[in-house]
Amino acid sequence: MKKKAIISGVTGQDGSYMAELLLSKGYELHGLMRRLSSFASGRIDHLFSNPHFHTYHADLTDSPSLSGIISKVKPDEFYNLGAMSHVKVSFEVPQYTLETNTVGVLNVLEILRTLSPKTKFYQASSSEMFGVPGVPPPFNETTPMNPQSPYGVAKLAAFHLTKQYRDGYGMFATTGILFNHESPRRGGTFVTKKVSQAVARIKHGMQDSLVLGNLDAKRDWGWSPEFVEAIHLIMQQKKPDVYVVATGETHTIKEFVEEAFAHVGLDWKKYVKTDKRYIRPNEVPLLLGDASKIKKIGWKPKMKFKDIVHAMIDYDMAHPHDN
Ligand code: NAP
Ligand code: GDD
Repeated sequence: MKKKAIISGVTGQDGSYMAELLLSKGYELHGLMRRLSSFASGRIDHLFSNPHFHTYHADLTDSPSLSGIISKVKPDEFYNLGAMSHVKVSFEVPQYTLETNTVGVLNVLEILRTLSPKTKFYQASSSEMFGVPGVPPPFNETTPMNPQSPYGVAKLAAFHLTKQYRDGYGMFATTGILFNHESPRRGGTFVTKKVSQAVARIKHGMQDSLVLGNLDAKRDWGWSPEFVEAIHLIMQQKKPDVYVVATGETHTIKEFVEEAFAHVGLDWKKYVKTDKRYIRPNEVPLLLGDASKIKKIGWKPKMKFKDIVHAMIDYDMAHPHDN
């Protein structure tokens, strides 16, 4: 019998890589997509011809849309990757962020509890939950959490809900606290993709400059295709738990920018400006993860900082017209 999985957020960066991974492992896969006014399926268009891949319109804030699909599919695994995932935007749409990233998670957990309690559930938790924890890095599963954004607060509430369903109802409700992870499929409003696209367009003579916000923040950047392998591994454990997924290296935004421009032979200082419109009301100045726990069950990152920068730039140099 094929394993059956549902992925929410299948049109996103991680959702698309997770879909490829599960199909390659022989799953029957069911992806949830939002209805939008324009096409948003670019990252998964190549999968539609696969007879084991099915998609549905659903929204995490719309319980009936979720319960209909869950009761029909009765999945072995539910990967909850859907979210309003932009930290800066969460300050502008805080209510919607909590509705999607917290109540949306509660909706899935309640439906699974009542209709399909044996389904394994994965919640996409975030290093943004650590915020400014008041202890020195690196951060692990026991580090205190002090989120600095509506996004971080929403994800922390969902993290605790996941724990409550695990402890209180005995459900397989598991989670990974993933540090930032990137790829050519990263959304264009996140800093790495914004930089890699701008570098390619500047090099091709299609753009003059790049406007950014805080260049001093530090992030622990990993590679999305490797991070979805970690998520799958977390789901295959005997018991649900909490795992930090990170590279254990941190770099400033400025270092990313320098490396990106240098890769195509340009001096970043000639092109990069800063503007306060990209500054957040609260910032998380430093993220650095300690992935010792997940390493013990067999996962480790391979792509290094420079590999990630170069892979993103090389992709955008070859596809400068992509959105
Ligand atoms: P992403 O590219 O922004 O994808 C988010 C997905 O969620 C998209 O498919 C989006 O649909 C969908 N979505 C948004 N609102 C929804 C709603 N109300 N109902 C149903 N689906 C909705 O994000 P990602 O980078 O792949 O991240 C995947 C998950 O991991 C997210 O939960 C994110 O918060 C979390 N996370 C990401 C990172 C990271 O560095 N990438 C780190 C830690 C945790 P549309 O395509 O229609 O917008
Ligand atoms: N987006 C963006 N745009 N960020 C900028 C810019 C800019 O023009 N200029 C500087 N930055 C800085 C931000 O202030 C932040 O410190 C850092 O670059 C990273 O910003 P993002 O790429 O937007 O990512 P994030 O760290 O806020 O959030 C991502 O990682 C989280 C895990 O830690 C997202 O993927 C979240 O969904 C994820 O949970």
